[in-house]
Formats: sequence, C-alpha cells, structure tokens
Amino acid sequence: MQTSTQQMHPEDPKVAPAVDVSVPEVETLALRETPQPSAKVIELEPLLAPAAKPQAAAKPAEGKADNATWRKFHNQGIPEYLARRYWWAYLWNVSVWFFDHAFIINTILFGNYYKLMRAALTRVDPDFDGRVLQITCVYGAFTPSMAEKMPKCELHLIDVANVQIQSTLRKLRVAKGASAAGVQPARMNAETLAYADNSFDKVVIFFLLHELPHDARARALDEAMRVLRPDGKLLIAEYGELGTKHLMHRNKFLRNTLEAMEPFLGRFRKENLVEKIRDTAGRAGMAVTDVFHLPVFGGFYRVLDFSMKPAEEAQSRAGKS
Ligand SMILES: C[S@@+](CC[C@H](N)C(=O)[O-])C[C@H]1O[C@@H](n2cnc3c(N)ncnc32)[C@H](O)[C@@H]1O
Repeated sequence: MQTSTQQMHPEDPKVAPAVDVSVPEVETLALRETPQPSAKVIELEPLLAPAAKPQAAAKPAEGKADNATWRKFHNQGIPEYLARRYWWAYLWNVSVWFFDHAFIINTILFGNYYKLMRAALTRVDPDFDGRVLQITCVYGAFTPSMAEKMPKCELHLIDVANVQIQSTLRKLRVAKGASAAGVQPARMNAETLAYADNSFDKVVIFFLLHELPHDARARALDEAMRVLRPDGKLLIAEYGELGTKHLMHRNKFLRNTLEAMEPFLGRFRKENLVEKIRDTAGRAGMAVTDVFHLPVFGGFYRVLDFSMKPAEEAQSRAGKS
C-alpha cells in the first residue's frame, strides 16, 4: 500500500521541510487502491509536490478568453466551488497570510473564536490514543491545540489546498510538543478520501460543512462516515440551525450580508444536521447512539459530538432495554 502521502519532499530545494513528518514506527495507514467513480481530486503524490496535476477544468465559452483568477486554482486540482467562491479566502497565499491571525478570525466569528475552540476541545480526551482525522485545515490555533491536547493520538490532516497544508505545518512547527510535530498531513479532496474504510477512531470537522455546496457536503459526510470506525466519534463545529429568536437570524441585513460572503450557508442552516448525520451513519452501517450538543453564542454556532455503534449492536441493545 502506498504511504507516500505522509512524506515530504526533502530533496525539493524550494520547500524547506516545515516539520519532520517521517514517522517510521507508526502502523501504515491503508489507502484505497482505486478512487471512487465520483472522484474529482485524489492527490496521492507526496505532499508539497510543486504542483498538482491539472484537472479537467470547466471550459470557458467558445471564443472567449477567460482569465478569471479562480481558474488558475481550479486548474491546479481545486474543486470548482472552492476555487470560484473562496479563492480569495483560502487559496491565495496573501489571504492565507492575512486571515490566519487569531484576531481576524475572532472578528469574523463575532468574537467567538476562542469560545468555539475551547468548546470543541472539551470533547477531546487527553488520554485518547486512537487515530484521528481532521478533515481540512482551519485558520487559527485549533489544529496545534488539538495536537497538544491529545499527545498520544495519531493525528492525520487533509486539505485539498497545498497552501493551507503548508500554513498548518508552520503553525504545528511552532506549537509545543512532539505530538504537534507528528501530525500526518495529506492532500485530498474531502469528497473522495483515499483512506480505507474504518481507518479512524475519531473524525473532526471544524467549520467546513457550511462552505460546501449541498451535494459536495453529502459526499464529504458519506466519506467521513466511511473512514470512521463503526464505534467511532464524529466531532463537528459549525453554524447553528437558522432559528427565529437570535438577533443575527432575525435581522435580514445581517443574515443577507453573511450569506453573501458564505454562499452555501443559507441552505446549510435550513437543514437538520443531526438527522443528516443519522441518515449518513445508517447508510454506512452505523447508528448514532449519543449526540452531545453545545450551543455557542446563543446557538448561532454549535459544537456537536456524535457517538456511533455498529447498527446491529445498537439495535440489539435497544431490543434488550
Ligand atoms: C475548514 S474550511 C473553513 C474554516 C474556517 N472558516 C476557519 O478557518 O476556521 C476551509 C478549508 O477547507 C478546505 N476545503 C474546502 N473544500 C474542500 C474539499 N472539498 N476538500 C478538502 N479541503 C477543502 C480549504 O482549502 C480550506 O483550507
């Protein structure tokens, strides 16, 4: 099985290794041999390779030169929705530098960044020694903090954007502790993970789901559930469901301004995420046995922690009680 996703390019003179991620003693993580039919980007070349293979990009209209900035990113293997809608936020190295400051993130999250991070970290057990997957990088100190808080776990991290992975590696390098330095990154699309089924004891998704179009979100959740072990846990931090009481929900101007910045948030907030996770778990042969729900900022944000069991086990338990 190929394991090169977790290795750097030591001989690449342009890229000074940010951290030593060669971890010879860890159990090799199985990767799937074949991508799913729906695969858009499965990038299994070594991390920090100079450029991803160009994907089949959407063609510009006949006869028209299209030099839109987002196409440059799309042509490098970034999904169209991410390149088109969020290149200025996540893909351009200037914006990565700009946004990755705690006070900027805290402002974007209306002063709730630290609360959210602390709330999510309350669900992290310092003695946990299983295998954890964080699906996509995030701005701020969440990943290094999680790595520091779970020094015994084997932490894997995926993102489809090299610039984000490099930035996280830099943050991990300055974080304290070998656990942070040992994080194993890989470049992958969350919709088509290359890990084998049942690879992880815990999957963590911090503020990704609302940034995905509806279908991509469904695929990413299916993938998260597929790679999660049947008795695993899924930790999600996200916007809360749209309600009628919170000022930020009631005020049309505030709602519309935020949804203009976050084009997929509107639909996401109208969905019942807990039900969606139950359905997704069911399709993967699992049942949700417990949901921890911690509202943050009056429910405008939330942290959800789902506990799973294999479906038959959950059924026979329910039958006995
Ligand atoms: C987690 S989300 C938003 C995080 C949140 N706004 C923050 O920084 O706290 C942003 C990340 O998701 C990544 N991303 C978006 N769609 C992706 C996909 N389909 N597969 C993998 N990574 C993706 C982007 O490259 C970016 O690094």
